[in-house]
Amino acid sequence: MNRFRQRGSECGPAVSSGRLVRGVVGAAVLGLAACYPAPVDPVGLPPTPPSFVRVPYVQQVTDSSASALWMSQPGSVDTAWYRVPEVDSTWTRAVVADHRYGTRRADFGSLPAASTVEYVVSAGGTRAGPHPFRTAPSEGTAGEDVRVLLFGDSGWGGPAQLELARQMQRDDWDLSIHVGDIAYNDGSEEDFTERHFRVYVPTLASTPFYPAVGNHDIRADGGQSYDGAFLWPEPFPGARYFAFRWGRIQFVSIDTSSMTDDVDGLRNGTGRQLDWLRGVLREASADSAVDWIITFQHHPMYSHAVGISGHGLDRSLRANLLPLFERYGVDLVTAGHDHHYERTWPIRDGRRVDDGCGPVHVLSGGGGASRYARDITNTTLLATAQRVYQYVELTVGADRIQGRTIDRGGQVVDEFSVRRYDGTTEGLPGRCSR
Ligand SMILES: [Fe+2]
Repeated sequence: MNRFRQRGSECGPAVSSGRLVRGVVGAAVLGLAACYPAPVDPVGLPPTPPSFVRVPYVQQVTDSSASALWMSQPGSVDTAWYRVPEVDSTWTRAVVADHRYGTRRADFGSLPAASTVEYVVSAGGTRAGPHPFRTAPSEGTAGEDVRVLLFGDSGWGGPAQLELARQMQRDDWDLSIHVGDIAYNDGSEEDFTERHFRVYVPTLASTPFYPAVGNHDIRADGGQSYDGAFLWPEPFPGARYFAFRWGRIQFVSIDTSSMTDDVDGLRNGTGRQLDWLRGVLREASADSAVDWIITFQHHPMYSHAVGISGHGLDRSLRANLLPLFERYGVDLVTAGHDHHYERTWPIRDGRRVDDGCGPVHVLSGGGGASRYARDITNTTLLATAQRVYQYVELTVGADRIQGRTIDRGGQVVDEFSVRRYDGTTEGLPGRCSR
């Protein structure tokens, strides 16, 4: 059942054969279809089982704990169970509680690190699962390569999103990071249910999902639906930014979208989020148990796209965040908001530098939302830019992050390698001197 309204969006001028067509004339010739979300196409998506509104998905996995979230019909009596098969085949009953804004939650504790866990949730007599997931390696432990799914600007509900979802579910992921705009057009409860949770059922059941909040995700209700949908390690009550460790990786999710003083502060160089971010990066940079720092946020600091109001690079964020990233050795900076894909060379102080001498910026905004018609300005900083629907698979190893960018047909459209960047606080190695 599709109950979506047809609404305008922040789309830009339509494009034909890669050529930018501007203004009213272009829109009239090509029609405005590209500017409006297509209705969700349920073909190929299994129906949601009775009693569930959203089937269970795994959240906030650490080296010793995890949670499952789901949404069931009002009045449903729900239970949850979990086990670690390699330790004990007996199922343990989890405590079920309300999370926020209609979502329910079960917490799984005393889990061994780097182990497979299975869980089952029953709502009103309908069972979902068992679903497996892997716990994180112990903090600071060097284990196997970590497989990270990176995508953004996905929740459009059209064929491109569904095709990408099918590609994603063919793979096994340790975790997923999303650079925002998870549920168009307004981030309502229904937008999240139909355009996110229903689309990625097998992937979300077994892959911990960590979001960065996008501007579309909090339009409908000030972010209540967003806050209710996910679980993250809040550094402060109500904060939508957070940090977590996975083995030897420090992940940092930055909120560039909420209408709060915390977010304004990122752009004017003050405030709690900026202070918190500086502290997280400083600590990670000084910690010998951290090999990699990966950040994710919605608005990009490097985007070579031009032509749409409110898009392209965010100069205020660049002014306040980039010095921190470059000082404290962020290796990979990821963002979305612009509906295409691009990757820079390593950059420091606004210049291209050698591998391992500055952060690499990846813009992964091709997750399914209508691609903007725009010019992509080629510069010496840009390794590649492509107007494709895509996601990125990151394989984080001891010495390199290997990246592969996959399009809706499953083809690899970019491959890259990121070498560790240690920042400038301890003095750069000689190879990075200019
Ligand atoms: Fe956006």
